[in-house]
Amino acid sequence: MKKPLIMDCDPGRDDAIALMMLGKDENYELLGITTVAGNHTVSHTFNNAQRLSAWLGIEAPVFRGCERPLLRAPVIAPEIHGDTGLDGFDEQCMPKHQETEHAVNWLVKTLLAATEPVTLLVTGPMTNIAMALRLAPTVLSHIDRIVLMGGSMTLGNVTPAAEFNMYADPEAAKIVFTSGADLYMAGLDVTLKALCDAETITRMSAHKNPAAKLFHDLMIPYCEAENRAYGMPKAPVHDPVAVAILQQPDLITFREMNVTIDTSTQEGYGRTYCDYYNTTGLKPNCHVAVNLNTEGFWNLIEHQIQKYN
Ligand code: BDR
Ligand code: CA
Repeated sequence: MKKPLIMDCDPGRDDAIALMMLGKDENYELLGITTVAGNHTVSHTFNNAQRLSAWLGIEAPVFRGCERPLLRAPVIAPEIHGDTGLDGFDEQCMPKHQETEHAVNWLVKTLLAATEPVTLLVTGPMTNIAMALRLAPTVLSHIDRIVLMGGSMTLGNVTPAAEFNMYADPEAAKIVFTSGADLYMAGLDVTLKALCDAETITRMSAHKNPAAKLFHDLMIPYCEAENRAYGMPKAPVHDPVAVAILQQPDLITFREMNVTIDTSTQEGYGRTYCDYYNTTGLKPNCHVAVNLNTEGFWNLIEHQIQKYN
């Protein structure tokens, strides 16, 4: 029997590839897709998730979530994802039915009604998840685990200290990291190893199906944007690494550690302090990904793309 899964995201070019990977998963049933402000406004991320679902033939309903972080001013990333948050993917297809319920209400309702624990995959700022945990704390007992892309044991990518998803809503991340949920974190430490270049794009697009076209159309401008922003000749596809944790966990090495979120210093705002050596003596609250088998990772992405043939 398939395990229930909810994806919370801010598509986002790499979120789009993560969603594509899940579209034909044999082991997880995607109950719904919830969207949040992050890479772009929630109007765009909601619209993008709907267009992606329709394009990929994913039938799970798509919900519009929080438009602002809990406390801080909104941060978006058009320099990486374009003016729509998904530039390069121009298809305007839409699901037959468009949902009007707020993502957080749907999350709470769905989790409370779940007959078995639900896995949450989170590839954007954690606003919706934090809101659900505050609105109905008992949802926690219905969550199997939370697998997320975000954070870093070392450098940030949006400030010297913070990774984008954490920086975009540190207070929400703090609620999630102190919730007691079973957490799996794919941070920059591993996602910066998942590097896409022209050769990767040629390999993936050779499959000539909707998933291959999506990869091609998004990864070309994404590689250019990453090169402009970071001077990187190859672009890290962050969010798909979190999907790899679900689909092929043996590709990733984890280390359990205590992770706290900086919500109180200016320079460190949004930083994930990862207690690798347990210097604090605090109980680990997270399985942090510390290494990735990159060859296996790209084989997995190609395998998922081939399913759309
Ligand atoms: C994360 O930030 C976003 O721009 C990406 O979609 C990814 O989730 C990487 O820091
Ligand atoms: Ca994302």
